[in-house]
Amino acid sequence: MSRKLIAANWKMNTTLSEAIVLANGVKSGVRELSGTDIVLCPPFPWLVPVKEALAQHPAKAIKLGAQNLFWQESGAYTGEISALMLKGLVDYVIIGHSERRKYFKESNEEIAQKITKALAAGLTPIFCVGELKKPADELLADPAGVTASKIRGILNDIDEALSEQNPNDIARVVIAYEPVWAIGAVAATAVYAERICRLITEHITKMVGGQKDITKVLYGGSANENNAADFLSQPHIDGLLVGGASLKPASFVTMCKVANQYQK
Ligand code: PGA
Repeated sequence: MSRKLIAANWKMNTTLSEAIVLANGVKSGVRELSGTDIVLCPPFPWLVPVKEALAQHPAKAIKLGAQNLFWQESGAYTGEISALMLKGLVDYVIIGHSERRKYFKESNEEIAQKITKALAAGLTPIFCVGELKKPADELLADPAGVTASKIRGILNDIDEALSEQNPNDIARVVIAYEPVWAIGAVAATAVYAERICRLITEHITKMVGGQKDITKVLYGGSANENNAADFLSQPHIDGLLVGGASLKPASFVTMCKVANQYQK
């Protein structure tokens, strides 16, 4: 659990030429970093060209990820992309992002199947969870009173999505704690995110029969170059899932550099 992971979720942004400029900007900015895992998740049509751009004078720390997959392997599923199609092309795949839950009505049951297929194809799922409603300001400032029973909804999502997996496979899943109210808005406080990430880590530890620190837990929700150190200095935050700030190479590179200072 020593390296931090910084994942860029480009969402439905960039033209092809913007994607290449962005990928090259990140690549040249992080070339010297060796202690951080960096994942770029472009839109599907740019995966191949971005992969090709990254392959020229590669920066070893950068891996590629997809933003979604479908849980069937092949067949009459117009517009969908399977884990088998992504195998060999990407190393990571975001699963269960709140925008997919919201706009495409993804359920925990579907998310569970997607995670199963991703793992079977050798991909690392970045599985997203997080509450919809902003907590009271007092709790954001002092979250000591937030207990496992108070975040039952998040833990239920984790239980349902990972119920099929054995401990070895759970260890291969990255969890992204993304409070939905903080996405594209105002970030959570680092103490609050730390509290939830710690409760998630403790929950996973129980699920895998007591093995500690086997699953990375990221924070996501308006993370940027100014607050990255606040989050990355927390003991139970193993990295960041970054939306808006990942579209600006200078901001994203700064975040990766900050992560490199906090490798455990
Ligand atoms: P944001 O998005 O950094 O723009 O808040 C994060 C995400 O949705 O993954």
